[in-house]
This record gives sequence, C-alpha cells and structure tokens, in this order.
Amino acid sequence: MTSTTAFWLAGREATGDDRFDVTSPWDGRHVASVSVPTDAQVEEAVAAAHAVVEEFAATPAHVRAAALDHVSKRLTERTEEIAQLISAENGKPIKWARGEVGRAVSVFRFAAEEARRFNGGEAQRLDTDGGGVGRLALTRRFPKGVVLGIAPFNFPLNLCAHKVAPAIAVGAPIILKPAPATPLSGLILGELLAETELPAGSWSILPVANDKMPALVQDDRLPVISFTGSDKVGYAIMDSVPRKHCTLELGGNGAAVVLADWASEADLDWAATRIATFSNYQGGQSCISVQRVIADAAVHDRLLPKIVAAVEAQVTGDPSDATTDVGPLVSEDAAKRVESWVDEAVSAGAKLLAGGKRDGASYAPTVLTEVPAGTTLACEEVFGPVLTVQKVDGEAEAFAAVNSSKYGLQAGVFTHDLQTAFRAHRALEVGGVIIGDVPSYRADQMPYGGAKASGVGREGVRYAMDDYTYERVLVLTGLAL
Ligand code: SIN
Repeated sequence: MTSTTAFWLAGREATGDDRFDVTSPWDGRHVASVSVPTDAQVEEAVAAAHAVVEEFAATPAHVRAAALDHVSKRLTERTEEIAQLISAENGKPIKWARGEVGRAVSVFRFAAEEARRFNGGEAQRLDTDGGGVGRLALTRRFPKGVVLGIAPFNFPLNLCAHKVAPAIAVGAPIILKPAPATPLSGLILGELLAETELPAGSWSILPVANDKMPALVQDDRLPVISFTGSDKVGYAIMDSVPRKHCTLELGGNGAAVVLADWASEADLDWAATRIATFSNYQGGQSCISVQRVIADAAVHDRLLPKIVAAVEAQVTGDPSDATTDVGPLVSEDAAKRVESWVDEAVSAGAKLLAGGKRDGASYAPTVLTEVPAGTTLACEEVFGPVLTVQKVDGEAEAFAAVNSSKYGLQAGVFTHDLQTAFRAHRALEVGGVIIGDVPSYRADQMPYGGAKASGVGREGVRYAMDDYTYERVLVLTGLAL
C-alpha cells in the first residue's frame, strides 16, 4: 500500500496538509502514508461532535444496534485483509492479528446486544417513607457527552473497538485518536462506520499528532476521556483535567502464581506452556502479558525447566508467517529499552536462562531468575518478551509477592482449590484474578481495568457503557402505587 490514507472527519473521508509514514517494524518497509488533520479540521470534528450530542443520545436503540451489527459483520467479511494490515503496521504475528480481528468482531456484536437492552430504566417506589407516598423514581442513564478515545499501538484494532463500540451503543459521540505507530487498523473502522446511518458528527477518527493532544484534552466540549497507554501519559492527562471523567487503562507487570497443589506433570506442562505463550504474545506488548512467575517452592524446581523449554520453543521471526509466535517489537527503540533493562538486571546479579539478545526491533524470548528487587525490570512494566521467575514459600508469600508491585491489572493463579481461589480473589490487589490460567486471559465482555497504578475505570463493553453515562432520576408524583 503506498497511497495516502485519509482520516475520518465527522463521518466523512478527509485529508489534511501533512502526512506521516507508517513502516513495518519487521523489515522497515513502507506500509502507508497517513494524512494528518489540520487544527481547523480537528476543530471542525469537535464542533460537529458537540453539536450532535442531543440528537445522537436520542437516536433509537435499533439504529445504533444496527450500525454496530453492521461493523461486526463487515469486520468478519474483511478479517484477512485487516489482519494483514495489523500485522504490517504493528509487527504482530499474523495468527495473533487474526485473533485480534475476531475479538473486535465480538466487541461490536456485544455492543449491539447491549445497546438493545441498555437503559430500560429502573423503577423504585419511594413510599417506603411517609414523604414519598404516591412517588416513584425512574432511573435511566444518559451520555456524559462527547468521548475522546486515545488508543495504543499494541492492539491497534481491538482497543479502538473498545472505545468506539460502547460510545455508539449509548449514543455518545466519539473522537478517536489511534496510535501514531499503528493508525491504519483504527482508520479502517471509519470505512465500516461510514457505511452506516449514524449521524454525521457522531464519530471521527483523527490521527492527531501527539503534541497537539494537550489542547484537545483540555477542550471542555470533550468531557470524557478514555485513554489506554502508559501510566506516565495517563496520569499526566488526568492531572491536567481533574474535573473531567477519565478512564485510564494503564500498565501492568502481570503475575502468574503457581501454587503447591498445581503439581502433576500435566499441570506443570500446561502452566509452562501458557506462561511461555503469554509472556511472548505480541512480543510481550500487552498490559496483561506474563512478566512475573511466582512459583511455590514445592513445584518451582520442576516448573522452571519446563518454562525455559517452552519459551525456547517459541517460534520467532517474520510476522507474516503463520507459524511465527513472536515477531518484532513495535520499534527498534522499544527493543533497545527492553535490552537495557535486561542488561541492568543481569549486571545486578540476575541469572539469564534464555534469550537476552536483540536483533534490530526483535528481542529474543527471555527468562531470568534471581532478579534483584529495585532493578527496573523488577519494578516496572517491561512490555517486551521477558519473564522473571521467583521462588516463594506458600500461598501467603505468593500473594504478597503479587501485591508488592505498584501495578494491579490482572493476576493468574494456578490452583485446583476453590477456597484458595476465593482467598486469592480477596487478597490480590488487581482488577481481575484468573484461576487455572495466566493473567493474560481477557474476555471482551467482562470488566477490564486496574487497581493501583494500573488505572481507573473499567472497559469491557457494558462497563464502558456505564462509564460513558450517568444516572438521572425521574421522580413521578401523585401515583397510585
Ligand atoms: C491491554 O494491553 O491492556 C489489552 C490486553 C487485551 O485486550 O488482551
């Protein structure tokens, strides 16, 4: 693809004065040139979104649901083409890119289903006190206003879908800013939305340059900000607009806990395979990829070689090859950062058991043990194909190790014991606990988001719909209840 890709301004295709290039992180080839909106075009999109707030909120549910169903259906029809695009711009192995399109298909379908049943209204009798005789409260949810969605590069289609689909489902106009490295998958959503009957100003997809974003974030006509990305940028946004509603999906250094009862050969094989796969999927560039394995001493020594073997079995290379498990990182700079963190940990005394090598933007799947506390790798989100393994004594120490992180997105706990599962659910300071699997499990309809430095608010279609709306009560009086 060499022509200039247009953006979407208030529902129609447009181009600006400037453009930028999207290149493949795998081989540096030119994937596309993307047009950048001018300041005047950004203003036009914001004004159009603001102007359509009331009309869009009043659009019948069947119209919004039909549009969402349409996008879901068209994503299905265009799966292969879109997967190729994700893989080209992001370097994601094609098998994972296909999976991502499948997830976006579901996100739009879930949103269509939710749009049909959302906001039926909850009736509450008020005559439970003398002052409320003959009175009824009817509570419905209404959009807070235009949503500014800011999406990351790691799931360039599905994390755009998670911003756009719930907004349409509740009738909130959305301005979506895809990531500069991977704008094409988000822009393709525009092609599909343009085939629907949604009001013109209700959606725009604008690859706005990062340095123009502070002004947009400050704009009072955009009262809701839904951001996915780093904690540094996320909290800078929230701190700059303390009176806005911000949903922040930030980082994590996901822990997989393997407890003493997860002890058969089959158990450990399964845990090792899942850990190896999900510390490396998308080159480890997922907020819920496995970064830390916390293994009970009772199983640690049998588990560790299995993990190393499973990590070494990951097929690295060309993302367009269907057999590739691990492709490049999003850029050479990203791979160099990962390299420097691993090198720092090794210099501080960590033992390198696999990987530890960089080739351009690619970083080999890596396993370390005995990583000293206080190293960058031990404290921060690596966002690369790197795994640390730690031995602990018993459940309490394992859970304390999970909680010793500043992050709290999701945790996986390998146990067969239901009581342990409930104790984990109570003890772990995270947004989600996955029993019998890695922290990387995400079903797009379930609430997703973090505790501590992993963010505020929840995505997952219904939960984002709640987030984009507020309750408004209607009190009816003089009724024969
Ligand atoms: C993320 O990186 O936060 C998204 C993970 C996912 O959707 O699977």
